[in-house]
Amino acid sequence: KAKLMVPQSLVGKKVTITAGPTVEAIDPVRFLSNHSTGKMGFALARACRDAGAEVTLIAGGKVDLTTPLDVQRVNVLSANDMLQAASQSAAAGCDIFIATAAVADYRTRDAAPQKIKKTQDEMTLDLVKNPDILATISHTYPDMFMVGFAAETQDVEKYARGKLASKDLDMIACNDVSRKDIGFASDENAMTVFFADKYQQEPEALDKASKDDIAQQLVALIGNTI
Ligand code: CTP
Ligand code: CA
Repeated sequence: KAKLMVPQSLVGKKVTITAGPTVEAIDPVRFLSNHSTGKMGFALARACRDAGAEVTLIAGGKVDLTTPLDVQRVNVLSANDMLQAASQSAAAGCDIFIATAAVADYRTRDAAPQKIKKTQDEMTLDLVKNPDILATISHTYPDMFMVGFAAETQDVEKYARGKLASKDLDMIACNDVSRKDIGFASDENAMTVFFADKYQQEPEALDKASKDDIAQQLVALIGNTI
């Protein structure tokens, strides 16, 4: 089968991937989250494994996907938990870090210890910013090859390049979420990949294809760049 043809471009490399949403508790029965399913991260885990890498996959929220064979999976809920798992994986030795997770940008300042009763007519949630997992790992390990993802609804290139620089990334893959036919729960995706200036590499447009296909193309780009 086609699998035999996959170039072993990541043999000997350790890869850590974050995937899925994070879940931020409001009280013991309610949470803040988003519609991410983890499909892109799981597809990348399979593609990295097929390219010969040793893969750790950190899955947030309630990702309901089969763990790929030969991939070490760590389940977490919140952004703080995901940062802790990512830091552990990075400290254990990691060459390539790929952040596909849709990390909640904010969490509740304090999750209520008991179920909140509907006694008030109006209520306000007090939110605080979550740590940036990708930026934290990137700034702690300047030599690690860092791959980010971005979902933008406008000015895709401007925001992508901003994130490349501020998070000190090597590569960022962007999708335009204003397109209704791709992304999130979809099995298909189309992306534009931007590279750090030092690689002097033109942006790469990946046409709409299955997430498995996109993942293989991204792994090929990583293998060629690293
Ligand atoms: N990311 C992360 N930790 C966060 C937020 C984002 O690791 N707390 C990672 C995502 O996994 C993705 C990249 O950073 O690889 C960009 O995420 P995105 O949400 O597009 O960017 P933000 O920096 O959160 O900025 P904004 O949402 O305001 O566009
Ligand atoms: Ca965000």
